[in-house]
Amino acid sequence: MKNVTLNKALFLKINEIIKKYESDKHNLLAILLETQDLIPKHYIPIEAAAFIGDKLNIPISRVYDVISFYSALNDKPKAQHVIKLCKSTTCRVNRYQTVRDVLEKELGIKMGQTTPDGKFALEYSACFGACDISPAFRIDTEVYGNLTEKKIKEIINKYKEV
Ligand code: FES
Repeated sequence: MKNVTLNKALFLKINEIIKKYESDKHNLLAILLETQDLIPKHYIPIEAAAFIGDKLNIPISRVYDVISFYSALNDKPKAQHVIKLCKSTTCRVNRYQTVRDVLEKELGIKMGQTTPDGKFALEYSACFGACDISPAFRIDTEVYGNLTEKKIKEIINKYKEV
């Protein structure tokens, strides 16, 4: 999958994230996760890693240590849309497994995989605060809840058309 070239607007947004975390290197993981959510195809390009390292005054090798340690972070383009299905307590009680089965069937892939066209990736997630509309998933930064089979199919079809 082709790499993304960062533009000025993206650098400004990454800078805002760094500022939000008070440029504290102890917040590197949170900064990387939020940055990845911003970047098309959900990964940390080398320019972003270098920029973050520079702003936090840490070597880029340290940034890559964290990226390679956490499976939620990617150093290569992942997919156009990453679907993160919550499997924390409330979503477990509300049968996230049914949502998983529908997603896997609709997309023709298993959790942890990416569709051959690079359009969707399926991942699990910890709770992201949408317990009141559980079961829930996020697609990129958008949250969807109260998921039924019909609703899931409608959501996926909407993204397929984009
Ligand atoms: S437990 Fe799933 S969003 Fe909170």
